[in-house]
Amino acid sequence: MDWGLKNRLSRIIKPKTGRTVMLAVDHGYFLGPTSGLEVIANTVQPLLPYADSLMLTRGALRTSVPAGFDIPIVLRVSGGTSILHDDLSNEDITTSMEEAIKLNVSAVAISIFVGSAHEKETLTNLAKLVTHGEACGIPVLAVTAVGREMSRDKKYLSLCCRIAAELGAHIVKTYYCDDFREVVNTCPVPIVIAGGKKVSEKDALKLAHNAISNGAVGVDMGRNIFQSDNPVGMIQAVRAIVHKNAMVEDAYGLYKNAKK
Ligand code: 5RP
Repeated sequence: MDWGLKNRLSRIIKPKTGRTVMLAVDHGYFLGPTSGLEVIANTVQPLLPYADSLMLTRGALRTSVPAGFDIPIVLRVSGGTSILHDDLSNEDITTSMEEAIKLNVSAVAISIFVGSAHEKETLTNLAKLVTHGEACGIPVLAVTAVGREMSRDKKYLSLCCRIAAELGAHIVKTYYCDDFREVVNTCPVPIVIAGGKKVSEKDALKLAHNAISNGAVGVDMGRNIFQSDNPVGMIQAVRAIVHKNAMVEDAYGLYKNAKK
């Protein structure tokens, strides 16, 4: 792995703890103005000081994040579908590596849809992105998107994560599941978990805690932070779990006591 790529990765996965709190606000690329992200800048800017990196599209980045703010960017570079279609797997690469360099990003992110109609295209797009990214020193994060017909279990998620790693992804984003340790153990690159649909703050913190305890290097969490009634308190609580191994109750106390 070359120096530039390693350096960018270390901006995302913090060398001090080997962990990361990524803030995902890329939902609009297929969901439009998601609840909590209606005006991206209003939601994102108060959270930036607490995030280790920010995952979003180029449009959101250019319009809603001050260029002077020092935050590593994970640029969403896949898309081309909307929630109005049943099959979300028909994605393509939407941004060039040249633009990723121009935007000074620390990584690019692409979804793969294993078992879906466009499995092959999404997997070969990942492989091509890795080849191109490595030539430019830019790491690739693969998101294991789960189609409606797939179950989020150990067997399926291990398959997706392992394929992503074998095709060269440098980080994999997936969902937490029972026996998660086995998903981690059979994937040779670091795993971060998505938060998924909004649940109670306590349950979201339990999810983060379970994932970290079972080998995830961090979270790439969106809705369970920005749809919380106290997003700043919530991201601080998640940070305590990820970087300080805080127990769920202690982290929940941080969320409860944080000023809104
Ligand atoms: C979809 C994505 C999301 O847009 C997002 O990053 C998910 O985050 P969360 O589930 O925590 O809201 O990656 O595949």
